[in-house]
Amino acid sequence: MGIKRSIVLASVWAATLVFAASAFAIELPPAPPGAFEASTGCGCHGEFRDQWARTMHSQAITDPLYQYKLAKGNEETDGAIGDFCETCHSPAAAMWGELGRDPGDFSPAALEGVTCDVCHQITGHTEPVGNVSLEWTPDGTKRGGLTDSFSPVHATEFSEVHTSAEFCGSCHQVIHPVNDLVLEGTYTEWLNSPYADEGITCQDCHMTPGPGVTKPNPGRVAAGAPEREHVYIMTFAGGNAGLGDAELAEERLQAAAEMEVIAPDVVAPGEGTSVGVRITNVGAGHYLPTGLTDVRRMWVELVATGPDGESFEVGRREFHTVFHDADGNYPAEIWFAEGVESDDRIPPRESVEEMWDVTMPDGALELSATLYYRSAPEEMAEAAGVDIPTTTMTQASGTVFTSAEDADAEARPAEPVDEVAEGLDPLLLVTIIVVLIAVVGVGVYYFTKSRRS
Ligand code: HEC
Ligand code: HEC
Ligand code: HEC
Ligand code: HEC
Repeated sequence: MGIKRSIVLASVWAATLVFAASAFAIELPPAPPGAFEASTGCGCHGEFRDQWARTMHSQAITDPLYQYKLAKGNEETDGAIGDFCETCHSPAAAMWGELGRDPGDFSPAALEGVTCDVCHQITGHTEPVGNVSLEWTPDGTKRGGLTDSFSPVHATEFSEVHTSAEFCGSCHQVIHPVNDLVLEGTYTEWLNSPYADEGITCQDCHMTPGPGVTKPNPGRVAAGAPEREHVYIMTFAGGNAGLGDAELAEERLQAAAEMEVIAPDVVAPGEGTSVGVRITNVGAGHYLPTGLTDVRRMWVELVATGPDGESFEVGRREFHTVFHDADGNYPAEIWFAEGVESDDRIPPRESVEEMWDVTMPDGALELSATLYYRSAPEEMAEAAGVDIPTTTMTQASGTVFTSAEDADAEARPAEPVDEVAEGLDPLLLVTIIVVLIAVVGVGVYYFTKSRRS
């Protein structure tokens, strides 16, 4: 116990010293007061404002899960990491020199985290992509992907970088500032995927109405603006159904994966066999799950029901990332992470299989698999004081029979039935006929008897 404790303390101190000595990899140039407008100034884009207000971007600083992790990180590293996190979660706060304040003390635009004006005054990015590799020109001109935009209220300018995945990837690629370990790799996951080759960007899936690429999306970008063949929208929906827009998050999660049960058709009673699942990442342009994957939880449960009606769990597998620290201890928090202990996630358009052994009972075995997702484990959500739901992403089922005849009987189409008798249980039909004959018989008997007397 004493030894373990001192090892833990030593690694805490080692990490703290390295963090403190690094003076932080992320440095953004200062911006003058008022350089970024709060979203209340974007009234002409009312619809976009409503969409963005429901996103994680608008909560990037106030988010209780973020605040919980930030406090934990600061406590465990003796305050050494604060600036690193906030610079990305609120670039305006960093450029205004407001880092380290209580959230309530930020200027309105800084408190809005990844807000409209922070994104729309970006003018370029640097290499390598990640850890806020962005450049700003906060001169009031609003930049975006339209080549012909005009506004009566502010200057506008076409910006190539807004149409690129590097724009998003500059924040969605989080690298440990001391040891360069990739903590969140959404951008490089996408870059190495078929989607990058096909020119399908983050914007095409996350700034369009439905899951997948739902282009074109005709509409207007502001009140009174001309109707366009395609407009991008500010929904930025991901997997967070607790803090983000629940409906949009669930829709995306449910379109992300396909699953099938793998099992033999027939196994004799008492024999061992292996059954399992195949899961394919069909909808996400990066690994499934992606982002903060030491926190995200995606798991499959395979349940079997035997001939006695009793159900039991055949197996369960989790898909996430586990980091280890300098001493090889795991799971390690991102600030102590030195390496990846395991990374069990599904690459884009790829499948994984998992099989488990079972012993065949005396009758058919019904198999039912369910794939679940949560943005954070229950303990963490509880500690942070938020309600994070579990979403069912997809389900699949299958049956193992004890004989080829049973399997065939199940597979054979139902016998054609008499039109009148359709829907009637044969046993019930026989009963009705017998009763009718009996009633008629008894009637005839009494009738003839009364005629004779
Ligand atoms: C995370 C960064 C980000 C945030 C936050 C954001 N936008 Fe955008 N917005 C973009 C990008 C990127 C595009 C262009 C997409 C493309 O063309 O590929 C865009 C497009 C637009 C457009 C259409 C013009 C164009 O270039 O296509 C308008 C108008 C707009 N945004 C307004 C807003 C408003 C208002 C808010 C806040 C309520 C907001 N945006 C929040 C990134 C952002
Ligand atoms: C300035 C940094 C920054 C930029 C630029 C940025 N993001 Fe984000 N994004 C964040 C942060 C930080 C969060 C997490 C906020 C939180 O919950 O604390 C986030 C969250 C998200 C989520 C929600 C994830 C969930 O769990 O539901 C999606 C989706 C997303 N971003 C997509 C995009 C796309 C697409 C772009 C490019 C158009 C983009 N982001 C550009 C920083 C950024
Ligand atoms: C082909 C469509 C597609 C593309 C391209 C795509 N995404 Fe996603 N993204 C999804 C789907 C579907 C989900 C929901 C499943 C999940 O959480 O992984 C998702 C989830 C996310 C999440 C939330 C992850 C979580 O579970 O916390 C973030 C953040 C994100 N995407 C960012 C990006 C960024 C940044 C890019 C570009 C580098 C990008 N996405 C490209 C479809 C896409
Ligand atoms: C370079 C940008 C960047 C930096 C630096 C960064 N983050 Fe994030 N953070 C993100 C992005 C992007 C997401 C969204 C990814 C996802 O949805 O999985 C995110 C999501 C989170 C979330 C999940 C929020 C939720 O509601 O699901 C937590 C918690 C978090 N970050 C904590 C931290 C802490 C603590 C630090 C500092 C040690 C930090 N972040 C540093 C970009 C960053």
